[in-house]
Parts: sequence; C-alpha cells; structure tokens
Amino acid sequence: MSDQLTKHHPDSPNGCDDVVRNTSGNREFGDVLNVRLSRRNLLKGGFGLAAGSFMSFGLSGCLSSGGSGGSSAFTLGFDAVAKGLDDALRIPTGYTATYLYRLGDPINALTGGYANDGTDSAASFEHRAGDHHDGMAYFGLNAAGLAKDLGNNARGLLCMNHENITQVFLHTVAEVGAGFDKAARVPAQIDKEVNAHGVSVIEVVRNTNFSVNTLSGFNRRYTAASPMEISGPAAGDNLMVTAYSTDGSATRGTLNNCANGVTPWGTYLTCEENWAGYFKRPASNTLADTKAATAQNRYIGSGSSNGSYGWANPAGGDTSGTGLYDRWNITPTGADATADYRNAANTMGWVVEIDPFAPAATPRKRTALGRFGHEGAMPAKAVAGKPLVYYMGDDAVGEYIYKYVSNANWDAADANGGLAAGNKYLDDGKLYVATFNDDGSGTWTELSISHPAILAAAYGFTTQAEVLVNSRLAADAVGATAMDRPEWTGVHPVTGEIYVTLTKNANRGKAGTTLGGQDWALDAANPRYYVDADGKAGSGNPNGHIVRIRETGGDHAATAFAWDVYLFGAESDMDGATINISGLTDDNDFSSPDGLWFSQAVPGLMWLQTDDDAYTDVTNCMMLAALPGKHGDGGAVDITSTAVPSNGGADQTVTTYAGTKATAATLRRFLVGPKDCEITGITETPDGKAIFVNIQHPGERTTAADIATPASFGSHWPDGGDARPRSTTIVITKNDGGLIGA
Ligand code: FEO
Ligand code: CA
Ligand code: CA
Repeated sequence: MSDQLTKHHPDSPNGCDDVVRNTSGNREFGDVLNVRLSRRNLLKGGFGLAAGSFMSFGLSGCLSSGGSGGSSAFTLGFDAVAKGLDDALRIPTGYTATYLYRLGDPINALTGGYANDGTDSAASFEHRAGDHHDGMAYFGLNAAGLAKDLGNNARGLLCMNHENITQVFLHTVAEVGAGFDKAARVPAQIDKEVNAHGVSVIEVVRNTNFSVNTLSGFNRRYTAASPMEISGPAAGDNLMVTAYSTDGSATRGTLNNCANGVTPWGTYLTCEENWAGYFKRPASNTLADTKAATAQNRYIGSGSSNGSYGWANPAGGDTSGTGLYDRWNITPTGADATADYRNAANTMGWVVEIDPFAPAATPRKRTALGRFGHEGAMPAKAVAGKPLVYYMGDDAVGEYIYKYVSNANWDAADANGGLAAGNKYLDDGKLYVATFNDDGSGTWTELSISHPAILAAAYGFTTQAEVLVNSRLAADAVGATAMDRPEWTGVHPVTGEIYVTLTKNANRGKAGTTLGGQDWALDAANPRYYVDADGKAGSGNPNGHIVRIRETGGDHAATAFAWDVYLFGAESDMDGATINISGLTDDNDFSSPDGLWFSQAVPGLMWLQTDDDAYTDVTNCMMLAALPGKHGDGGAVDITSTAVPSNGGADQTVTTYAGTKATAATLRRFLVGPKDCEITGITETPDGKAIFVNIQHPGERTTAADIATPASFGSHWPDGGDARPRSTTIVITKNDGGLIGA
C-alpha cells in the first residue's frame, strides 16, 4: 500500500452525535465481556451444567418467512450512521452489537485465553480464531446440537474465513524488533502465520446473546497446512503433481480465504483469493518450461521473489522431512514434478467445499469452478430441474467476472447429500466468463478446450484441465472484459438480478501508461476517469462501482445478458455529472465497495461493505443497507472525463447505463468500523433478527517501529486500553427484537 501511514489520536474530536453512538457501542462491548467471562467460567466449571443449559436453546426460534411478502413490503427503518474516524464501532440507535469471536479466541476448553502479546504458540493457533476474519455463513444446528437443522435461529455452526494476517501483532515485541528476514525466517513464526490463515468452524449458541460453545465437537480450524483433496476435472492432472501428492489428488492448505458461498445441501464454499503472492519463485524467463513461465507471468509475476512472508525460507532450511516449508517454493529443484513443488501454486486459487456437519471429512477443492483470485462464489436460487449457477469475481485489477453452471439439474433429494452432492454438482459443469458490450448487452463465453480462440492461444492449451488451472489465460483468449477489480457477487432473491462490486482501479482511463500491454481505456461498464479533488484518492476510478446483470429470460444458465451500473461510489461533494452519478449524500456516500450480500430472511435487503483507502481521510470503512431497484431503472447517462491520459489529454465522453439515483429510502449507512479496518463478511440467523459481521484488521497500518509503543498502534479495538487490535466477529441485534435494518 503506497498510502502514507496515517496516525490517529485516540481522543480526536468528532461530531457530538457520533460520539454518543460510539460511546454506547463501547459500553456495550465492556458489558458483554463481563458476561462472557462469567459464562466461560461457568462452562469450565461443569460439563453437565453447561450441556443442560444448552438444551434450553433452540425452541424460541423457527424458520421465519418474515418479510417474504417481497422487497416492497420492507423499508429501511433506522437513522443513518454518520461517517467518522474514531476507533470505535458505530451502529444505529436501537441496535446492540456484541463481539463473538476475536483473533486468538480459543475454540475448545483445553486452549487458554489469548495473551495477545505475541507469546501464544504456533500450535495453539490450530485451536484459536485465525486472523483477518472475512466471508462467513451460518448453518443451523438442531436444538440438541447434534445434527443439521438449517432453520434454527438459536444454535448453529458459523463457518468463517481467515484471509490474511497483520504480521506485527502476531509476534512479540522482541521478534518484531528483530525483523522478519524473508531469506531466513524463524520456523515457529512461519508455523504461527500459516496457522492463523484458513477457516474456522465454530458452534454458536444464543442465550441472551450469541457465544461460542467451546465444548462443541464440531469446532475446528483448517489452516494453510491442513490436508485438502483436489476434486473435479483438474484432479490427477500433471499440473497438480507435487512431492506431497505424486498422483495430483491432494495438497496441503487453503490460503487467503476471502469471500464465500453456500450450497443447497448445507455446505460452505471458501474462496482462495490472493494466494499468488505467498510463493517463492524464480524469474519466469529462467524457466525451461515455457507454459509454466506463461502461467507464472499471468498469475504471479515475472520477477523472482521470496514471497510475501518468506515461508519457503526457514532459517537452517526445511528440516521437517515433509516439505512443510519447501512447498512454498515453486522453483523446479528436482528431476520432475514428483520431486519438488513446482506445481504447488496450481493447487491454490480454487473454490473449496467444506461440510460443516462432517468434521472428519477432508475439504475438496472444486476445480470445475476455475482457478483465479477467487473473491466469492454466490449462488443463484436453486430451482428443481434447473442447473445450479454460481457467480464469481476474480479480484485483481482488470480481471474478469465468471459464472459456473452445473451439468446436473437440481434435485431436492440431494439436500442432505453432503460432499457427495458436491461431487455431482460442483465437479461437472461449465465455466463461463463475461464480456460487457458498450450498448448494455453482454455475453457469457464458455471456457472450453473446444473453443477455437482458446485452442489458438499462445499458451498452447491441450486439455480442459489446463483451461481450468489457467482460467485467466483462457478468458484472455475469448475477449472477456477487464473490470475494475471484481469483488463480491450477489443474486437478488426477488428479481434474480446479479450484482457485482468493482472496488476500484487506479489505472482506469490511463491506457498505455502503466501496466504493460493492458488496455485501460474507458468503456461503458468501467466508464469513469477522474481526479480526486483533494488529491488523496488519486485518479482513475478510485471509488469503484457496482454492476448489475439481468440474464436473458431470467435464466441463470443463459449465455446472453443485459447490464447496467447500479451504483457509483463517490464522496457526496464530488461532481454530480461525472463522478457522483448516483447522487450520494452524507448519509450514504461510500468508496470502494467490496462485500455485497442479500439477506435471505428479508428479500430485497442488500448489505454493502467497504474496503477503502480513498475516502479514509474522512471516514473509516463502513456497511450500508440498500434496497436496489431493477435493471434499466436509470436509463443512459453520458459521462465526460476530463483530460484522460490515454487519449492525449483530450476529454472523452462515455455513455453508460446507470441505476436510479440513491435516496434515503434506498441506501443508508448502517455501520462504521474502527480505525484502519475493513468491513467484510456477513451472515444472519434464518429469521433475520441477528446478523454476524466481520471487522477485519483494525489498525493494520501499525508498523514494526510502533509495536513497542502501544499508544502508537493504529487501533486498540475491540479490547481498548493498550491492547493490540484484533479482527473480530460481531453480532448485531435490534433492541426490540425485530428484523435487522427494518
Ligand atoms: Fe479479499 Fe478482494 O477482497
Ligand atoms: Ca473482499
Ligand atoms: Ca478524498
């Protein structure tokens, strides 16, 4: 991140109204802490007592059809939360937020509390919350806590991604002070960082508030070292062969798990996003295998690197005997792929299926859904007799939007099929990529080895497995549209229209000026180039936008669609004709949309979350509630971008298709997070009366130089005082017990 480190002072002044809300939120957290501590002591005191108390849960709630009358029956019923920069959580009056699951919290009764000073062991992280909480989903568990009951509001399994780490907060002051030499890492530090990645499955139970049942047999962690099966068309391919799995059927670890998805048979999909940076690699032009070089260029980079954290370089070399560290090095070192980890990066970048209700089952990487920087995999509604469809963003600058269509038609008899149902629907299907035409139409092109353009690509595709492993190269060949960083997708449960967040692109409009060869010219689907007036956000498309797709005939398997831009991110005082096209006001302006999720309990309610570094001179990241309209409700708009570098400084006018302007009735800010965080990941109880939201990496800009001086930490949230900040799952309920957002 090139932004200058921003120092915040704990008592910086803010508007009165904001402080009142924030103070309320903070007090609530303190109260909850006390309740939780006494509860934990109670649980430790006697299993029988605890088990008895859990038996009383589950009868209060059943699957509600609340709000099922349609989106028109629902109105946003809270006062907009003001923007702000304080180190606190802001939520509307009338709501209560409690924290549920913080970095390092133990998931069983044998693991102690989190010291949060870097002394917690690497091994203990196999039984603690990982870092950087991200996408998640709630799966109801029956009242007895033994089996799936998806409608239960009071007891469930929460599956949650741990995308990355804030390295300085995982290690001691002395360790941070010694530096993290990527060429010679302390092995135990690598182990801790590996274990802080991955996925949590935790049982949550509701008494007055939700808490984690640390006695549950369902609780477990998957880390960047856990065994994984490789499933689908690329399983067993030569490109998957490693010294760990010489038949290409398995790998270790799921990595950089970002957004998520769910299946109609009650399993969790975790999506591997920024895995590419973790690998040590040679310069691609030194590789004898020219196809491997092409793939490395496209996915990882052309230059040599020790990787983001130097995990391939334990001081003294890899003495594990199992290649635990060598597996992060994709440099060919052996006679062939069975003798090294040249293909290890090919085993990352997938959608991975986990059955929350089957703790002993090994997760399966579903290769039919393609390999890229998977943000999430959100489903269209499952309809009997129709294929299952998943929409997926590839989050990197100028990447594409994909969808997967199963070959099998949905049969409700598979609703309890577990991973076997996954084999049926997720291992056999078609992968498509989107092209957005300037006239508002679009096409889905199947990435098939029989496509002439794919066969003609310079890479030299010969099998469908190669197409899936190198989806980006295949998508390049068919002329997919380079988008401004596709993040989450969501399918409106009433209209069936698909929404995709495009978080930002600093290069948009600057064709030929930055990244080699890529065309960053404006197009109708990525139509804005502008310069942030105060200079902080730079230029290009720093605030992002959200595209909306209407499949032809409402058929999710269609190969043609219409699209428009539902919302443009902007600061409220930006120019209304060229930048703030959606008419955002102080109550709903936002920048860099990322998380996007439709409530299933309240049809038509969309939650929007930001991961921003452009508007952060004014506000921390946030979450908004939206009631989107329909495709085509805004008509055509001409945007004139002044002095676009790509065409020599002359103005350029682009016609796009924009949604109706946002109003207080259709878009409203619901939450603002603490300092230097990102809001990402959301799920709900089936009745929509509790939502779970992740606050990721508060204080992430804290530097190694600051680690010995708590007053200099970028945040102390949620524990306050001098504490190191922690990524945290919060639960939000309405004080009157009603639907969230209504
Ligand atoms: Fe992990 Fe694109 O956010
Ligand atoms: Ca994200
Ligand atoms: Ca700004």
